[in-house]
Amino acid sequence: MREKLELLQQKRAESLLGGGEERINVQHEKGKLTARERLDALLDRGTFVELDRFVTHRSVDFGLADEKYLGDGVVTGYGRIDGRLVYVFAQDFTVFGGSLSEAHAEKICKVMDSALQNGAPIIGLNDSGGARIQEGVVSLGGYADIFLRNTLASGVVPQISAILGPCAGGAVYSPAITDFVFMVRGVSYMFVTGPNVVKTVTHEEVDFESLGGADVHGGTSGVAHFVHDSERDSLAAIRTLLSFLPSNNLDGPPRRGAADPPDRRDEELLDVVPDNTTKPYDMHDVIRRVVDDGDFFEVHRDYGGNLLVGFARLGGRPVGIVANQPAVLAGVLDIAASLKGARFIRFCDAFNIPLVTFEDVPGFLPGVAQEHGGIIKHGAKLLYAYCEATVPKLTVITRKAYGGAYDVMNSKHIRGDYNVAWPSAEIAVMGPKGAVEILYKGEEASDERETEYREKFAHPYLAAARGYLDDIIDPRDTRPRLIDALATLETKRDKNPPKKHDNLPL
Ligand code: HXC
Repeated sequence: MREKLELLQQKRAESLLGGGEERINVQHEKGKLTARERLDALLDRGTFVELDRFVTHRSVDFGLADEKYLGDGVVTGYGRIDGRLVYVFAQDFTVFGGSLSEAHAEKICKVMDSALQNGAPIIGLNDSGGARIQEGVVSLGGYADIFLRNTLASGVVPQISAILGPCAGGAVYSPAITDFVFMVRGVSYMFVTGPNVVKTVTHEEVDFESLGGADVHGGTSGVAHFVHDSERDSLAAIRTLLSFLPSNNLDGPPRRGAADPPDRRDEELLDVVPDNTTKPYDMHDVIRRVVDDGDFFEVHRDYGGNLLVGFARLGGRPVGIVANQPAVLAGVLDIAASLKGARFIRFCDAFNIPLVTFEDVPGFLPGVAQEHGGIIKHGAKLLYAYCEATVPKLTVITRKAYGGAYDVMNSKHIRGDYNVAWPSAEIAVMGPKGAVEILYKGEEASDERETEYREKFAHPYLAAARGYLDDIIDPRDTRPRLIDALATLETKRDKNPPKKHDNLPL
């Protein structure tokens, strides 16, 4: 037995080295962590349990019969984050560039199946050159097996992807199906085809960074939800994200005791909204003054800045915040904001996280680019997402709620549970200036008419008179009122008609 144990120890030690020390050094020289170092940083200390460390590929072509590495380029298993079970896989770039073989894919599928069966999140740390070129279609099949599992797990367990290297080809589509994508500046790249292929096909000259770097996907394409300066920051942020999420769609989100008193009023909220209704203000100030300890974990911070989304807690209960941002494009809804909001709302609804909406929106963004880009169908996604959501839905109108955007932003009509406005709210088909221009077309503009329209509509009392608002509140009371509403809605039950699945306007 002792000799056999020695062999086991030898093989274990070999498996820890992945593609060998030289390649590990190269990984470090590039400023990157290895797969195992990443798992150490991600998981609670000493909780990682590795599976399938002895798996190797089965290829024989292109000299691969003689080149095998224990684990075959991906470290898989399970561990704990804040004591809660998670399943993980971390691709090892030191083995064939983390490329995906049949065996590599089988290992990933095994932990995905376990995550689904046990109702635990799955976290993928991706660092891969895509399909293992020597394996051909077998590797493509492996990707498809993963995509199917990503899709089946969607809405059942949270799926999180960190991109920690160049991810090309198939390596980007699995992350794209998952719920949250994390990228690191100078380390992460995502593209369907790299700069060389782009040059051949479209004759465009572009480098890695400007084609698919972290800031491109965090700010322009919106593919990445979080961008950080270092791998360790990124892995720490995954831990924070999970602290807001339930382990699966049958659990509630984890509650936590809050030092911040639930009945705390905030005097400063009286002065956040400027008297001049065209003047911008930062909605972050409202959110931070209302939520527990001012802690707002923002998602998609660099994308679609006219709408803010993210997680926070109210009275210890996790909530998803959706808020118009008057400081960016006056908080107007455009294509990016609609897509950003819709995806976030659907995530929260799938995972039983109540939604809190802060509203100050002048409408949808007019213009040829928006119309031709499909603002109708994209705006419809946001509307649809709010309509179908059955989690507790709270709305605070701080200032403008104009036009279709009034309906969209969790109005009473689409099953808002607790809709309130500050006295500064203006709820109308459009702003007074635009309204007067249409009502008195061809006539001289006059301040009196604008004032008349403003006095008639630019306040919350008409909406409140119809019951479209449950109350008009003192801004200072926003936090206690929301916390009380959430407690009241704790036992809310609502469901949509039975269907095979919905037909979200894609
Ligand atoms: C096999 C691969 C590989 C791959 C990299 N390697 N990609 N081996 N299959 N796809 C190997 C290299 O041979 C090298 O082996 C090691 O990994 C490190 O690669 P380098 O090129 O030295 O690293 P670097 O300069 O950092 O460049 C990384 C890279 C580049 C950008 C990822 O390797 C690359 O462009 N690879 C090919 C990407 C690609 O086109 N993949 C196929 C996509 S198609 P040694 O032995 O020297 O260490 C696809 C289809 C799926 O994925 C579609 C599903 C929808």
